[in-house]
Amino acid sequence: MKASTLIRQLHRWVAAAFVLGVLAYMAAMSQGTPPPWLGLFALIPLILLALSGIYLFLLPYAARLRSGPAERAT
Ligand code: HEM
Repeated sequence: MKASTLIRQLHRWVAAAFVLGVLAYMAAMSQGTPPPWLGLFALIPLILLALSGIYLFLLPYAARLRSGPAERAT
């Protein structure tokens, strides 16, 4: 499997984990002040999402660079 496909799937599944982390934090907030470590369940996936998201964002530009000088759009 291509690395870009793996990263895209990682991004998709980490997005689901991030949503669960945020929901858990919100549920804990409704019961009072949540413990600080609970925030890590959203923060760590968010960092992974940012890194893999930037990679996905740059993919098409990298492909364009690799394929040589771009044809000018008219
Ligand atoms: C934190 C910074 C983030 C960046 C820079 C980022 C960037 C990106 C980029 C560039 C794509 C590919 C778009 C495309 O060309 O099709 C993408 C896809 C996606 N992003 Fe993010 N994203 C971020 C955070 C999130 C978050 C917080 C969520 C949801 C909780 C999320 C969910 C998704 C999903 C579901 C896809 C589609 C993946 C697929 O192809 O199946 N992303 N993101």
